[in-house]
Amino acid sequence: DNLILLDKVDSTNNYIKKHWNELPSETVVWALEQTEGYGRKNSRWYSPLGGLWFSVLFKPRKRPLIPYYYLRMYSLVIYNVLKKKYKLNPVIKWPNDILINSKKVCGILGESVYNGGSPGCVIVGVGINVNNELPEEVSNSSIALKDLVGKEIALRKLLNELNHVAYHSYYLKYFKPKAISAITKLWLNHLNVKIGDRVQVSTENDGTLYGKVNDIQSDYLEIIDDNGEIKKLNSGELIVL
Ligand code: BTN
Repeated sequence: DNLILLDKVDSTNNYIKKHWNELPSETVVWALEQTEGYGRKNSRWYSPLGGLWFSVLFKPRKRPLIPYYYLRMYSLVIYNVLKKKYKLNPVIKWPNDILINSKKVCGILGESVYNGGSPGCVIVGVGINVNNELPEEVSNSSIALKDLVGKEIALRKLLNELNHVAYHSYYLKYFKPKAISAITKLWLNHLNVKIGDRVQVSTENDGTLYGKVNDIQSDYLEIIDDNGEIKKLNSGELIVL
């Protein structure tokens, strides 16, 4: 159906940014290799052959462009496929990474494109370490699926499974404005951190902070630190104590 397969591209998110106007909603752009894959905070996302690198285009007609809604939906899709089809034990690490055995197997990046007064689009970019080797600098914190299941996994099969679950279990049910809170509830259930947890967060600007989680939002965590001060964090390395 709406699948575009590219041998090599700078980034599948960039590809959609250029072409979203001509493409139908829910188009999936899959590249075997990306030369300039990127992640959150403009980090480089190493994307050699063997990994699953794709982006999904959403063109919400009536709803506002809220990337976090689609991001949460997609992290749930990946969570479910890894759990049910591959019998793995994933957790969603706030905000949207997927970890297994505390190591990152998947990163998700949401972007939106605004189009003046007319509706724009939301792009959900998914990077899953499948059969690829990992770069040195993340080899302690990340892992590839092949090393978890003990054999290589066909990329097309995995992508088909994800698309199938996305369409049949999520898009049909949740493309309704009222579904936002249902999605959020499911997402909170599978998240690695809960309200009330004691956490340690290392931030770039404020150093390392200890405190209790007071509120969880898609784009920030609210923490009451040990001095009783409320801190809103939108990035950082989070460890649940
Ligand atoms: C992160 O963990 O920071 C998010 C990583 C997202 C990587 C994917 S790979 C497919 C898509 N194209 C990109 O350039 N990035 C996303």
